[in-house]
Amino acid sequence: MKKDTFAFSFIEYNNDEVPALWYNLIEKAKMSLGGSNSDYSHFKVGAAVLLENGVVVCGANQENVSFPCSTCAERSALNYARSNYPNVNVTAIAIVAARGDEIEDSISPCGLCRQSIVDVENRQQSCITVLLVGKFATRIIDSAGFLLPLAFDAKI
Ligand code: THU
Repeated sequence: MKKDTFAFSFIEYNNDEVPALWYNLIEKAKMSLGGSNSDYSHFKVGAAVLLENGVVVCGANQENVSFPCSTCAERSALNYARSNYPNVNVTAIAIVAARGDEIEDSISPCGLCRQSIVDVENRQQSCITVLLVGKFATRIIDSAGFLLPLAFDAKI
């Protein structure tokens, strides 16, 4: 028998303390909110994905009258990245939410999006930094894997 424990630490910066290297990605995530189709929830989510080659691709939540057809911002951005830059690793993803023009406190990706981000990490075998951007503070997590302990991976 053995007992295992999961623990991880992350840093929460006040927004005026966030390291400058993240300014552009955070700005792009906020700009992505403009592409949100959130007619049903009125909750906008924007995501900006930084690729290893420096390119940033963006996505926003896309809702559908048949609710389960909707896609979250994170998966919109990651799917775009994979479709258009299939051989380029993902370095980071910044996520932000808003109601109307008001940025919300930081949100954390839903379960489906955690699985999707972790799957990219596993495929590329390198960590993706996750930035959870809020109205006043931003949480920076060094690997999406921390958000999904014991994630499924069939190692296909
Ligand atoms: N949403 C995202 O885009 N990302 C998440 O990680 C959580 C939720 C979207 C789905 C839906 O369009 C809206 O937020 C409200 O749930």
